[in-house]
Amino acid sequence: MSLTKPKLVVLISGGGTNLQAIIDAIADGRLHAELAAVISNKQDAFGLERGRTAGAAVRCVDHRQFADRDSFDAELMQVIDAFEPAMVILAGFMRILTPGFVRHYQGKLLNIHPSLLPKYAGLNTHQRALDAGESYHGATVHFVTEELDGGPAILQASVVVNKNDTALTLASKVLEKEHEIYPAAIQWCLTGKAKLTDGVVHLDDQILPKSGTQWNNEDRH
Ligand code: GRF
Repeated sequence: MSLTKPKLVVLISGGGTNLQAIIDAIADGRLHAELAAVISNKQDAFGLERGRTAGAAVRCVDHRQFADRDSFDAELMQVIDAFEPAMVILAGFMRILTPGFVRHYQGKLLNIHPSLLPKYAGLNTHQRALDAGESYHGATVHFVTEELDGGPAILQASVVVNKNDTALTLASKVLEKEHEIYPAAIQWCLTGKAKLTDGVVHLDDQILPKSGTQWNNEDRH
């Protein structure tokens, strides 16, 4: 019954294809959770429509209506906590969060980043990987800590960078992998298979390296 499933609150700012991957994984039973709410800082984010269609509550907390990050994050926390989520999932949420917010959800706040962290934290990751001549690129699911894109990783998936790849083709290959690994990593956290303890990720009681565990190594061939 949905009432017994752990609740997720997903924060978005845009199209929400990762949100859709989460919705699809819940629908087909890979992810045992209830999507309680989708919250955006932008009223016109298409992800809100995806959330509505999936039967979740949708909310907009517009950052422009707040004097500073602290007051925005305080309101965001109130809206989130009303849903009593087991986990809070950042899925293309384009706001830097305050240390107070991050601490409040420590161990249950996840992000997905389009690079093989610790490489290419920040924006414009695909072009930067191309410019550096990388042979592999990818995506990382990590716990959020106060360091931007710097929290300990749970799961990474790689793609091969081909000679004719552009930032666009690379983005689309990486996004496909994101849609596989995000629901999987969330499920690991919900079941306790993956957890953050004393700043490191334990997977089945083994300590993971800071880059997490690898999803699909056959892509390397
Ligand atoms: C993804 O590339 C994700 O890695 C990054 O923001 C983007 C969100 O895309 N954090 P979408 O809105 O889920 O399609």
